[in-house]
Amino acid sequence: MPLAGRGPHFQSLHAVNPIESEYLFALCNPGSEKALKQEAESMSLGWRLSYQRRGFVSFKSDTPFSFDALTTDLALARRLCLSLGKSTTLEQATHRLSAASRIHHARFFDRKLQGLPSVGRPKPGDLIGTIVELAPDEFWSGIHRHTPLLSPDPAGDSGIEMPAESPSRAWLKLEEAIRFFDLEFTSKDIAVEVGCAPGGVVLALLNRGVSVVGVDPAKMAEIVLASAIPNRQHPPTDRPWFFHSRKPAALASKRDLGHGITWFMSDMNQSPEVVLTECARFCRMCPDIRGILITLKLTDLLQITDKNHWFAALSNIGFKSIRLQQLAVHHKELALYAHR
Ligand SMILES: C[S@@+](CC[C@H](N)C(=O)[O-])C[C@H]1O[C@@H](n2cnc3c(N)ncnc32)[C@H](O)[C@@H]1O
Repeated sequence: MPLAGRGPHFQSLHAVNPIESEYLFALCNPGSEKALKQEAESMSLGWRLSYQRRGFVSFKSDTPFSFDALTTDLALARRLCLSLGKSTTLEQATHRLSAASRIHHARFFDRKLQGLPSVGRPKPGDLIGTIVELAPDEFWSGIHRHTPLLSPDPAGDSGIEMPAESPSRAWLKLEEAIRFFDLEFTSKDIAVEVGCAPGGVVLALLNRGVSVVGVDPAKMAEIVLASAIPNRQHPPTDRPWFFHSRKPAALASKRDLGHGITWFMSDMNQSPEVVLTECARFCRMCPDIRGILITLKLTDLLQITDKNHWFAALSNIGFKSIRLQQLAVHHKELALYAHR
């Protein structure tokens, strides 16, 4: 396969020392490379494109990269690694990662940048090596430190599979986000989901013991209607339940939502601006909301350069900790997560 971006630095790519490198690489969804470069440029990081393949973008800068550079919030990067160079064999690539406590494997296969299954969940502080196989004789070695809110999985790809009974792929997007951000729910949580039909997210939440108020004019699938309650005012206390407010989000009132909502979720196919306006209104109606998880649907991934407006909208609502992330299961979508 042709190698794009081959330059004088290419053969000499190596780590300056175990925790600094002249290069870093980002792993992303194939098709997100251009928007990822735009995102980095819009953040004035001083990173310059070094090399690019589908799902793989490497950058260089005037000063060596350290682990600090990996804390940069690049929403379109599923994984950022200090680059320890390119090898022609897996053995060589593994040899470069002697400092790592565990090694993740990723490969470009079936038009996807896939993480290969790994056992266990890394702890914060663990040094993790990643070997990315882009071609039979092209292996890249990278290293990063695990921190909260970073995917625990190789290449930020959990490989979770959707159960046959799920009425939509939204089940997968929610489960991937839960795994990526390490979200926790209890049976005391009540989530409101706007744009809830046909019910993949509702099904995943009910299975986790979380009750849901769903807002959507469209019809729900039978599998979630089995947990439906007719009246929001008197919910059962012995099982998770689902209440359907069958109307557009803008018409949902405090009465539909009731007391005790702790999560706001949205999967509406509406612009980020509409979704964030509704998010602010719902948070005013439900003061107990402690977390939000929104699937932002973009018409063009280059809208990523608007992300500061989205963060400002959430910080105006009172959220301090905010993460924006494209997940492995997303197409032109992003997960926006915030908690108090
Ligand atoms: C991608 S689907 C949602 C999938 C759903 N979350 C699931 O888990 O199966 C998008 C939904 O957004 C709903 N929607 C679009 N605009 C809406 C609005 N203004 N208020 C409420 N729902 C809306 C549509 O009716 C549609 O059912």
